[in-house]
Amino acid sequence: MYRIINTHSHINMLKERTVDEALKNCEDENITIIVPSYDNKSIFEVDELVKKYSQIYGYVGVFPEEAKCFNDKTLLDMELIIKNNNRIIGIGEVGLDYYWDKSFIDLQKEIFIKQIDFANQMNLPINVHCREAYFDTLNILKEYNKNSKVIMHCFSGSLEFAKECIKQGIYISLGGVVTFKNAVKVKEVAQNIPLEFLLLETDDPYLTPVPFRGKENQPSYVKYVAQEIASLRGITFEEVANTTTQNAKTIFPQINSN
Ligand code: NI
Repeated sequence: MYRIINTHSHINMLKERTVDEALKNCEDENITIIVPSYDNKSIFEVDELVKKYSQIYGYVGVFPEEAKCFNDKTLLDMELIIKNNNRIIGIGEVGLDYYWDKSFIDLQKEIFIKQIDFANQMNLPINVHCREAYFDTLNILKEYNKNSKVIMHCFSGSLEFAKECIKQGIYISLGGVVTFKNAVKVKEVAQNIPLEFLLLETDDPYLTPVPFRGKENQPSYVKYVAQEIASLRGITFEEVANTTTQNAKTIFPQINSN
């Protein structure tokens, strides 16, 4: 028997399925999921969600594109949520995104750094969103992160960049993109990084893996991500599932052992 930990799923953002339906589809593969927040309102939604479902854990954090909504109260709210809910097990998703809007990069950096400091104070791992901002993200983490474990979510960089991250002890989380035919770089990362640094995710409702590319993604599709990584590395599905679950439990000791 195996279990899969999906380290990044927006199960609360699906349009074609309810949370109950999407969780039901996770039962056969024994999938536990961790749901990120993205702004100063969704932190409360995630708090409620994880209280309701035992298969769901959560992150609180403000996404780089939402940096303008971040204020002093946001940190106080996040702290209160964490102190009252031991199933909030990380800070995320936080980071830098230079793809959509480059007009407030300095603010993105400032809010990222504040949330790294906060994660350090809370002694919680950080789920990092990084898009077209590779070395700025890594340099900020090198400079400011003291004691938090770090996950690069939906990793899209080169193998060289993955190796730079791993040198810093940063985990690499792969999602549906690894199943895309033209995702040469991500496949290379999946094949070559040490298995001890690998994690699985879906980032649903986005980035649906083959064979459902084009349809809405859901957390149970993490099995296609695991299958693709297994076939790329020439190992079994169970080995990918078991090792990545062990890695996730090392980062998140609060996850129950069922
Ligand atoms: Ni996401």
